[in-house]
Amino acid sequence: MRDIPRRVWLEISKSQLTHNYNAVASRVAPCEVMAVLKANSYGLGVLPIAETLKEAGAMRFGVAEPFEALQLLSLERPVHILSSILPEEIEPMIEAGITIPVTSLESARLIHHTAKKLRKFAIVHFKIDTGMGRLGIILEDAFDTIVQACALPDLICEGIFSHFPMAYDKESPVSRTQIKNFKTLVQQLNTRRIRFKYVHIANSDAINNFPESYQRPFNLVRTGINLHGAFDAHGKRSIEIHPAISLKTRLTAIRHMAAGSAIGYGQSYKLKEPTRVGTISAGYADGLPLSLSNQGHVIIRDKPCPIIGRVSMDYTTVSLAEVADAQIGDDVTCLGSTESNCITIESWAELKNTHPYEIICSIGNRVERRYVQ
Ligand SMILES: Cc1ncc(COP(=O)(O)O)c(C=O)c1O
Repeated sequence: MRDIPRRVWLEISKSQLTHNYNAVASRVAPCEVMAVLKANSYGLGVLPIAETLKEAGAMRFGVAEPFEALQLLSLERPVHILSSILPEEIEPMIEAGITIPVTSLESARLIHHTAKKLRKFAIVHFKIDTGMGRLGIILEDAFDTIVQACALPDLICEGIFSHFPMAYDKESPVSRTQIKNFKTLVQQLNTRRIRFKYVHIANSDAINNFPESYQRPFNLVRTGINLHGAFDAHGKRSIEIHPAISLKTRLTAIRHMAAGSAIGYGQSYKLKEPTRVGTISAGYADGLPLSLSNQGHVIIRDKPCPIIGRVSMDYTTVSLAEVADAQIGDDVTCLGSTESNCITIESWAELKNTHPYEIICSIGNRVERRYVQ
């Protein structure tokens, strides 16, 4: 079968990924940086991104679950599951040398028994729930649980970590209280001679908003969204990162339509005057939020073209009133920059009333990922 160029593609800039990694690494130095690449690297394609970040200097990688962890074995760097582990997943993860989270005494014992059976050691990090309310050892139980788990001989108790639910908010006391309680726990464990090689709590928000989250005793940070060139919707943006992705498609039709013509599903737009209407070959299946309907724009020949009518699954209609020279086949920038115009992930997030994470993770399956320098 002949290869045919794809209609919609996502350009992922390796040099911007590298820049973003370096920006984070130099901010938090001497802390080590774990690149968080869960959900297929936030939907962008895990292996090429992991390899680029490894070249940039990333020494370890974080994922959400075992399927994702196994995909990264070829990197020959530590891979951490950051969330939870199911009983039947323990054996294959120990076999593969994946770093496993301990989320309860029961899970520590299961990991220990499995390691013993396999005649291997299991590398574990204790996951402490200091306020996220989702997973991990509840703070009040953490001291006793860890003391008991550290006595299990087949565990290499390498790390202890926690996670922030709202480190975007510098004013809220929540993150400071989490840091204080977590540090107290680490100190209490020290009095029992329990010390960890890695102590970590910071995500991207914390790196931007809470310097104490990457100072002693912390010596590792876990960052995802900043590496991908975006920020959380709220909070300070103190690291100078660059957008790393551009979503592009082609102009597939140009039609001259009369005043009064209705456009698209629901006929939500009626032309006020005779207009050159363009149809671009991308829709919500490719990741364009439905909420761009009659609100957003795309860029053609470096000019903004307002979206008119409702975004549909595969196509979106735009006004070409300001781009007299537009031609069928022209490249269309849906997200990203051209010479003098720019559409940001954050602007889409605002229109969709969501955060940039959901925008990045919603780029459709049929969109070709192209890794460019
Ligand atoms: C446990 C954990 N650590 C770190 C991260 C990275 O977060 P961010 O992408 O905000 O840097 C995540 C992602 O949600 C996470 O679940």
